[in-house]
Amino acid sequence: MMHKEYKRYLITSALPYANGPIHIGHLAGVYIPADIYVRYLRLRGRKVCFVGGSDEHGVPITIKARQLGITPQDIVDKYHVQIKESFSRLGITFDIYSRTTSKIHYKTASDFFKKLYNEGKFLEKENEQYFDPQANVFLADRYITGTCPRCGHKGAYGDQCEKCGSTLSPEELIEPRSSISGSIPEKRKTKHWYLPLDRYESWLRKWILEDHKEWKPNVYGQCKSWLDNGLQPRAVSRDLDWGVPVPVEGGEGKVLYVWFDAPIGYISNTIELFPDTWEEWWKDENTKMVHFIGKDNIVFHCIVFPCMLKAHGGYILPENVPANEFLNLEGEKISTSRNWAVWLHEYLEELPGKEDVLRYTLCSTMPETKDNDFTWKDFQARNNNELVAILGNFVNRAVVLTHKYFNGCVPATSTRTDYDKEIMGLIPGTAATLEDHLEHYRFRDALKEAMNLARLGNKYLADTEPWKVAKTDMERVGTILNFSLQLCARLTIALDPFLPFTTEKLRNILNIPAAMPWKDFDREALLQEGHQLNQPVLLFDKIDDATIETQIEKLKKTETEKKDVATALPECTIDNFEKMDIRVATVLQAERVPKTEKLLKLKIDTGLDQRVIVSGIAQYYSPEEMTGRQICILANLAPRTIRGIVSQGMILMAKEPGGKMRVISPEEGITNGAIIG
Ligand code: MF3
Ligand code: ZN
Repeated sequence: MMHKEYKRYLITSALPYANGPIHIGHLAGVYIPADIYVRYLRLRGRKVCFVGGSDEHGVPITIKARQLGITPQDIVDKYHVQIKESFSRLGITFDIYSRTTSKIHYKTASDFFKKLYNEGKFLEKENEQYFDPQANVFLADRYITGTCPRCGHKGAYGDQCEKCGSTLSPEELIEPRSSISGSIPEKRKTKHWYLPLDRYESWLRKWILEDHKEWKPNVYGQCKSWLDNGLQPRAVSRDLDWGVPVPVEGGEGKVLYVWFDAPIGYISNTIELFPDTWEEWWKDENTKMVHFIGKDNIVFHCIVFPCMLKAHGGYILPENVPANEFLNLEGEKISTSRNWAVWLHEYLEELPGKEDVLRYTLCSTMPETKDNDFTWKDFQARNNNELVAILGNFVNRAVVLTHKYFNGCVPATSTRTDYDKEIMGLIPGTAATLEDHLEHYRFRDALKEAMNLARLGNKYLADTEPWKVAKTDMERVGTILNFSLQLCARLTIALDPFLPFTTEKLRNILNIPAAMPWKDFDREALLQEGHQLNQPVLLFDKIDDATIETQIEKLKKTETEKKDVATALPECTIDNFEKMDIRVATVLQAERVPKTEKLLKLKIDTGLDQRVIVSGIAQYYSPEEMTGRQICILANLAPRTIRGIVSQGMILMAKEPGGKMRVISPEEGITNGAIIG
């Protein structure tokens, strides 16, 4: 099974939600390994289709749209374009990057559902689900929040607690609330379709636990734990208006669950790319399908989607699902909402020309078997100590010396010393080792192996010292440089899957017109004697401390800013607002309230009357600063007695992140009593 030769390779990478940009966690977990694998297969001359695309449905997208007052379509249009472009700039070479809002996808997903429906593969169940009476909608997944029954976290969602990672259902939440209106939901009857995963349990046990023992331990382990806990039927529809409509009777006002339609996106995108021949990719046993995903996607790709494919019939199943764990950033979990992330589109702008440095660092710290950490210091060290000092330095010395002593022409070789033979003897094993690592999704080991060729070259030059030998024995210098240049040429193959921008530069320097195929790897003379090189350019520059500090500061800064910004409130109506009498007023007198630290007593002119307001701003403003100042007040707040003083109204203040209170001052010269609204 494992050593079967396949006719073609269908490689998928998780379709990211098009509701925010891509960050380094996505890259290290999914897209870098997928791209390395795909580039390797292509180098080996295999027939490959690399499928990517945007996942454009799901509740988070509709919630974000609601918050921003725009449509879900607006959101996905923006992020689809941004994500697609940033991937391409990082050299991620999808054969197709389409979207789950495409016509083809709607049809494909719809037909898929219909076939399962017609063949009675679903259960149809009516049950009670949470409903928001104020917003008049059913509350699917993230539309409902409450307290997590497992860890007590207050902001758990109807599908998951992000604090402890538990998968939840809305019914399990304690004190559920609608995240649309904040109101207490009630239960209403609704009908949905379920995929009875339990019926596939014994089939799955055999297929995964017996036939795929070679899957990565983290993947195999998660699957085993799902299977051991017993599978339940899973709803594949939702009461929402954003998604692929349920295409059967009784499906009005309902859409396919996002995790039902999204993986079908892999099929739809293949159809879009190969309208005539897509079936050979999906239905022929000679296709090897591999899903690249992060660990939070394991159950969907190893259990749910395979059940869908099996229920449908006619489709192949994934041969492997090399899911990665998570990448942390500077010791903390990456968090989109806290803005604790390195965003790809910003990286590309701020560190132009350093695409391969990011690819290199992320591959080196890829969370293959456990969560791993990205730090900017490590990024700098990998660039300066490895890319510059080892790879860049070796190539540069070999090429510069060839120009100096041989006019940039590959010199002839003469007698090989025992040392030469020893070093050269190490090379033939490299290709086989690299292949073994790459075929088994061990990308970090593979990169290390490829870099070892550059290490070897560096050591060879340091040991043989051609710049000294040049004084006495030019023939020997020729041999040393010839051998070094062959090693440089070999690096254009070995590093190509990992550092495609660098290998292109290197090919230009070496004057190699097109990428050399993998099978040339072990050929001794990749460059002919007399072959003319081009002028060298530096492959990498040092990254200085200032650059790194700027990035670290930016991270810390945006984080504190973001962290303290109060979360958005649920929607309100203009009526809510119009109940409030907000006006401009002037402070006539101000004094401290005795025996308090926080309170000022302000006498103000509201245009309507003169009255007293007690305000908790004494920490931030002295009585002198407030006297004579125009302010904004909420005039019709019910009076309250504070420290024996009747306070009639409230001063409008801005609470800064960090807690500092600032008075909101109207533009100068506005009449007292002017209405704000
Ligand atoms: N959008 C999902 C995520 O980011 C991944 C979907 S993968 C697919 O977690 F298979 F469903 F497309
Ligand atoms: Zn929890």
